[in-house]
Amino acid sequence: MAKLNFGGVQENVVTREEFPLEKAQQVMKNETIAVIGYGVQGPGQALNLRDNGFNVIVGQRQDSKTWDKAVDDGWVPGETLFPIEEAVKRGTVIQYLLSDAAQIALWPTIKPHLTAGKALYFSHGFGITYKERTGIVPPKDVDVILVAPKGSGTSLRRMFLAGKGLNSSYAIFQDATGRAYERVVSLGIGVGSGYLFETTFKQEVYSDLTGERGTLMGAIQGIFAAQYDLLRRRGHSPSEAFNETVEELTQSLMPLVAENGMDWMYANCSTTAQRGALDWWKKFRDAVAPVFEELYDSALPAKSTSAPSIPTASPTTAKSRIPN
Ligand SMILES: NC(=O)c1ccc[n+]([C@@H]2O[C@H](COP(=O)([O-])OP(=O)(O)OC[C@H]3O[C@@H](n4cnc5c(N)ncnc54)[C@H](OP(=O)(O)O)[C@@H]3O)[C@@H](O)[C@H]2O)c1
Repeated sequence: MAKLNFGGVQENVVTREEFPLEKAQQVMKNETIAVIGYGVQGPGQALNLRDNGFNVIVGQRQDSKTWDKAVDDGWVPGETLFPIEEAVKRGTVIQYLLSDAAQIALWPTIKPHLTAGKALYFSHGFGITYKERTGIVPPKDVDVILVAPKGSGTSLRRMFLAGKGLNSSYAIFQDATGRAYERVVSLGIGVGSGYLFETTFKQEVYSDLTGERGTLMGAIQGIFAAQYDLLRRRGHSPSEAFNETVEELTQSLMPLVAENGMDWMYANCSTTAQRGALDWWKKFRDAVAPVFEELYDSALPAKSTSAPSIPTASPTTAKSRIPN
């Protein structure tokens, strides 16, 4: 396994050079991978696996537009597309990619088909980490593994089609067969990961909840709203407030950060912008630091007074959320 230096810490990383696709295909040659759920991660992972030469079937409830989407993507009813229970019966690897709420609801249907030697695969540590509350307690004789792509299933697919890989984390919760490692890494490569970073189910869920409630979605939405509202209250037009809050960040500055890092983005801004940002960033860090502490603690079952809410229903269908 390769070691990469991240900020002075040596981390275990699996790369496509040391674990090539051909090796992954060899490991999985006798497996049927049942991708259960065709929302956001489901299509990205299932299509990438199929295009990478793995034996894949999809499980999806039938009376749903999502079933039609799977058909449109080339999954054939009765051959590679089945109702959920039938797909779980047929699969030797069950990629449990229903919404987290549906994973809880469908667990009693899934569990009886998790026979000895199968693998149960997640892309989020949620169901297992909070198993006392979700009720998702796998049988002892199946592997329980995780590959969590660090991004939307839509990005996973787009990057695959562009010949690139999205970084993922991977974890093993239970190694019943002695094959959990080769299975999880093979699947990680197969779904289109770039680098695969080692983690645990708990660390994945705590960091993921922090990220999505923090800088990736919740915090950024909060900062957008605060700045936009301020500019509007102080007499700026909606377009000016929008451009200065959202447009410039998403269209100009974040692409520069993605390309070459924060210093590169700074280097491409005016000296006035650099000076102002250097004067202000620590004030923002210090203002939000206590909120981040509260946020992280809220994910820890032991410390939490308000443990993360278990989702109960999807607010929208997956199809309506994916831009075409
Ligand atoms: N979204 C991402 O890109 C992303 C990124 C990393 C990890 N993950 C993880 O990947 C997993 C899947 O997430 P996702 O965002 O892809 O899920 P999602 O889009 O919310 O999942 C929707 C899937 O669940 C099915 N479903 C919902 N309620 C159901 C019910 N009551 N009975 C049967 N099927 C039901 C949907 O079918 P219908 O369409 O018929 O409702 C659809 O197939 C989750 O563990 C998530 O945390 C997601």
